[in-house]
Amino acid sequence: MYRKFYGLRDLPFSLTPDPRFLYFTASHREVMANLQYGIEQGKGLVVVTGEVGTGKTTLLRAIIRQFDSSVLASYVFNPGLTVAEFYEQLASDFNLGPAGSRADLLRRLGELLTTRHTNGLRTVLIVDEAQGLSRELLEEVRLLLNFETHTEKQLQIVLVGQPELRRVLNSPDLRQLKQRISLRSEVRPLQTDEVSAYIRSRLNVAGAERLDIFAPEATGLIYRFSEGIPRLVNNLCDNALLTGYALDAKRITAAIIADTAESLDLVSSLHGNEFQREKIETAKVKGRSRRKRDQRAIETAQFKVISGPVDDEEDLKTG
Ligand SMILES: Nc1ncnc2c1ncn2[C@@H]1O[C@H](COP(=O)(O)OP(=O)(O)O)[C@@H](O)[C@H]1O
Ligand SMILES: [Mg+2]
Repeated sequence: MYRKFYGLRDLPFSLTPDPRFLYFTASHREVMANLQYGIEQGKGLVVVTGEVGTGKTTLLRAIIRQFDSSVLASYVFNPGLTVAEFYEQLASDFNLGPAGSRADLLRRLGELLTTRHTNGLRTVLIVDEAQGLSRELLEEVRLLLNFETHTEKQLQIVLVGQPELRRVLNSPDLRQLKQRISLRSEVRPLQTDEVSAYIRSRLNVAGAERLDIFAPEATGLIYRFSEGIPRLVNNLCDNALLTGYALDAKRITAAIIADTAESLDLVSSLHGNEFQREKIETAKVKGRSRRKRDQRAIETAQFKVISGPVDDEEDLKTG
């Protein structure tokens, strides 16, 4: 709905982990390089952690997209699987035939890994949301790392999860697994000066005619509310564009962001920080008179969001 108004081809701030939109901050670049290096060099176990919404899944999708035909990958994103279900998925992703017994399956997997390794081909197991893996599955992961030659691992395993994953891997009963981690990295939130570049980059991928839709003070405020978490930045920006559209505002101002953050309940998280609250209050006062006048327009727009399925469908398509 606001696409035409802002001259956009696609929705720039969808919440799906679409790798087309990936913007490389120093942290995202480092994690990507770690993953590529670990997989290419046969490093075995690679662990990536990061807060919710920092871009872990998006990075994984980007790297899977980059794999050529020499890489065979299994992507597990449901850590609640039982051991049997886990092996069923492996058997299916690695074309091992019917799962059968665990011992039989491991034998076939071993054969596959040896053949592939001899031919210079890589085999990768990627587990997303790995902080939720059961102890039994973590033990299986450790056993799978035993497929190795004298110099290299035959199966590369990537565990990706929330910071909780670090705590899990630090527990005394998992020290054997912990010792096998060869590379670790962390996806960090956007830094204050990265938010503006991030927003412009996403606008650009969405085919924007103008990249200065968000005023500099607006991006400053977006950083404060989101604390640099990309998912929150997206949510704020998407809602702000909607409000801006309702207000007929070609430029998203700090006042619009303050308003939007309040409606998304992002303001409460800043309680206690006087400086931030003061800035937000100033931005709100500036926008207040215009807000009153345009309150009805905003309500109409919000009604459109709730009742309009069109953009949701597009979200799913990009996912
Ligand atoms: N570096 C980035 N560049 C572009 N978009 C990003 C980046 N990091 C995160 N996002 C976006 O933020 C949202 C949340 O990312 P996601 O990968 O689902 O996070 P996580 O898996 O860490 O919870 C997605 O819409 C994603 O596209
Ligand atoms: Mg994720």
